Amino acid sequence: LEGRVAVVGSLNADLTVRTKHLPRPGETVSGGPMTVLPGGKSANQAVACALLGARPAMIGAVGADEHGAMLLDSLRRAGVDTTGVLRRQLATGTAVITVDAVGENTIVVSPGANAALSGADVHRGAELIRRAAVLGLCLEIGDEALVAAARVAREAGARVVLNPSPMRAIPAELSALTDVLVLNEHELAQLSGSGETGDDTMEMVRRLGVPRAVVTLGSRGCRVIDGAQPHRLPAFAVKAVDTTGCGDAFTGTLLAALASGGSLVDGAAVGAAVAALAASSPGAQRSYPDRERVRAFLDEQDAGWQG
Ligand code: RIB
Ligand code: NA
Repeated sequence: LEGRVAVVGSLNADLTVRTKHLPRPGETVSGGPMTVLPGGKSANQAVACALLGARPAMIGAVGADEHGAMLLDSLRRAGVDTTGVLRRQLATGTAVITVDAVGENTIVVSPGANAALSGADVHRGAELIRRAAVLGLCLEIGDEALVAAARVAREAGARVVLNPSPMRAIPAELSALTDVLVLNEHELAQLSGSGETGDDTMEMVRRLGVPRAVVTLGSRGCRVIDGAQPHRLPAFAVKAVDTTGCGDAFTGTLLAALASGGSLVDGAAVGAAVAALAASSPGAQRSYPDRERVRAFLDEQDAGWQG
C-alpha cells in the first residue's frame, strides 16, 4: 500500500493536564502533571492510518525545536513517510488541552508553523499527493495550502476526505473538490445553516454540496451518507479515559480503508473500533491501536455477542 494515502495539514505538541472537571470561565482548577504528547489533527490521522498498515505520506510544517523532533519521531515510528514535513524557524504548533475525569476535553490550538504552510510548500511535496489514492485534510492549516493540496489530488484522480475542524466556513473551492466530509452533528448543523442537530442529515449534507459524508454522533455511533439511504453504525461502549484525537483516529481509519478499496461503511465500522480503543487510554497518537490490537478487540466483541 506504499504511498496510497497522503495527509496534508497540522502537527501539534499536545500540552495536556488532567483535572477533575473542566474550568468554567473565570475559574481556576488544580490539575495533575502536564504531559507533552504528539498531536495535531492531521498528524493524528496519519499515525492512525499508518498503524493499520497503510503507508501514508505527510506534508506539513513543524519548528526546528524539541516539539518538532518529537512529532517527526512519532510519525516515523508509526511508519509515516515524513519527507514532506518541513522544519521552519518558527515555533511548532501547540495545543493546550484539559481532560476531565470522564475523558472529555477542551482544546486551544496555537498554530505556530502550521499557519505558515503555503501553497508553494504543498506543491513542493506534490509528488507525494499524486501517488496517493486518498488525501486527508482538516482545517488546522490555511485555505491556500488546503486548496492547493485538494487541486493536486483531484487532478491526479485521488479522492479528498475533509474533516472541517476546527470549524470555520469551508472555502467554496475546497468543498467543490471534496469527496467525503467527516464531521460531527454540531459541525454539520452549523455548516449547513440548519442550526439544529437532528434535522434531516441527508438534506443537510446535500446543502454542503459534497457527495458523501460520515456524521459522527459520539457514543451514539455514526451515520454514513453514501448513496440513497443513510447507514447507521453503533459505537462500541468503552470506559472513556481520554477522547482527545478519537475523531482523528476515526478519520485516519477511513483514509486507510478507502485507499485499500474498502467502502465508507467498511471504514466507519473499523473506525468505530479504533476510536473506542483510542478513547480507552491517555493521549492522542499514543493511544492509537495497531492492526493486531483492532483485530483482537473485534474478536472479543464478537465473542461477547455470542454470549
Ligand atoms: O483532534 C485532537 C487534536 O486537536 C489534538 O491532538 C490537538 O493537537 C488538536 O489539533
Ligand atoms: Na486517547
